[in-house]
Amino acid sequence: MTDLISSPRQPATVSTGRVNIQTFGCQMNEYDSELVGSILGQNGYSLTPEETDADVILFNTCAIRETAHLRIYSRLGALVAEKQSRDDLIVGVLGCMAQNLKEDLLLKFPSVDFICGPDAYRQLPELIGRARGMRQRGAAVELSEYETYEDIAPTRVDGVNAWIAVMRGCDNFCTFCVVPYTRGRERSRDPKGIVEETRRLAAQGYRQVTLLGQNVNSYQYDGTSFADLMLAVAEVDGIERVRFTSPHPKDFPRPLLEAIAGSERLCSHIHLPLQAGATRVLKKMNRDYTRDEFLRLAELIRETIPGVSLTSDIICGFPTETDAEFTETEDVMRAVEFDSAFIFKYSERQGTIAEKLWEDDVPDAVKSERVTHLVAVQKDISLKHHQATVGKTVRVLIEGESRKNSAEWRARTYGNAIVVFADPSRRVGDFCDVQIKEATPHTLRGIPC
Ligand code: 5AD
Ligand code: SF4
Repeated sequence: MTDLISSPRQPATVSTGRVNIQTFGCQMNEYDSELVGSILGQNGYSLTPEETDADVILFNTCAIRETAHLRIYSRLGALVAEKQSRDDLIVGVLGCMAQNLKEDLLLKFPSVDFICGPDAYRQLPELIGRARGMRQRGAAVELSEYETYEDIAPTRVDGVNAWIAVMRGCDNFCTFCVVPYTRGRERSRDPKGIVEETRRLAAQGYRQVTLLGQNVNSYQYDGTSFADLMLAVAEVDGIERVRFTSPHPKDFPRPLLEAIAGSERLCSHIHLPLQAGATRVLKKMNRDYTRDEFLRLAELIRETIPGVSLTSDIICGFPTETDAEFTETEDVMRAVEFDSAFIFKYSERQGTIAEKLWEDDVPDAVKSERVTHLVAVQKDISLKHHQATVGKTVRVLIEGESRKNSAEWRARTYGNAIVVFADPSRRVGDFCDVQIKEATPHTLRGIPC
């Protein structure tokens, strides 16, 4: 193994070239790709959206479920032929899958020149330089207790919403989750730097920022809580909407809910990942709340923030989950009435507590049936909520063209619902008022006022 992997801590030999970054997974990965773009830009590289135009292709990968791995494997497999015809092409795998599989990935894929984990992006110019100049394969997968990339200004690609990572890592160790192993321990950024960054973004014309972290509401820095941070960011002139993702239900103290309720700029949307509805399963997942505590929290949120939009993540078929326990998940969904929910099949992840302790014993067909059922349950609830907005006027921020029809805009409400409408006089980044005319489970359709 050691002769295959060489240390990247040596000077780069070549530092120009065109880099194509392809991002998989969550918003934190989107943000990290922007950081990587900035690090490489400072080292003489330019970014290209075209794979065929690139000297270096970087895959910023996800490890959260096996489906994420499979998608990347098929891309890496396809590159074997491509590399044979383009001798000078360099391929790097970044992010959670690189961190999770480490050197195994280099052994499995001869097309990969180097791997680089989420805390090692400062080493990328060296890794690329050594691969290009000396044909050396490399691995940089040390996790750090301190790295927050505080001094690096991301090269942002989205002109409407700016991601700001305010903390990194996760200390929760939910038994199903690989993130504590791929992204390491929790660490928060200095709020002064975050507010400064927000000011710069507002000066550049951004009207919306989204505060990011694997466990964002456990942010805390020298006595500054997440609520303090949100309020400080919302005070920046020019910023009209502040969002955050992804939180954990265990960290929603009243002051945070009151801050959201009291500030027009803090969007009234809370992502509240339920994961499972039965207390026994939640305990086995190490989620830190019971079914009743979750229900009480959802109620408290609805009372404190009238009109709040609640969304969730749910896992079906966690080891030993019975039919009766699965029905409890459905009961909680029906009681809380999330506005939308991501529903996943449990996917056993290498290195997690669940993988070490329990057999993945719910048959795949049962997991699929459970997912299909909950997707249908959620669809009805989402439609009901959406139908209740028909006839109302909502303020939306235009994010881009509608995916189905480029003559229409795709915009987002304060509560995070998607609204599609046509108005040629508007442009991306505009706020406008739209009257809702039609509802489907996933979108609203309206006309400008
Ligand atoms: N299997 C299925 N879903 C998972 N998630 C995290 N780990 C797993 C896993 N091993 C889901 C959780 C989390 C979301 C980001 O992904 O619901 O909230
Ligand atoms: Fe995927 Fe989670 Fe890593 Fe994001 S943090 S890239 S969702 S494994």
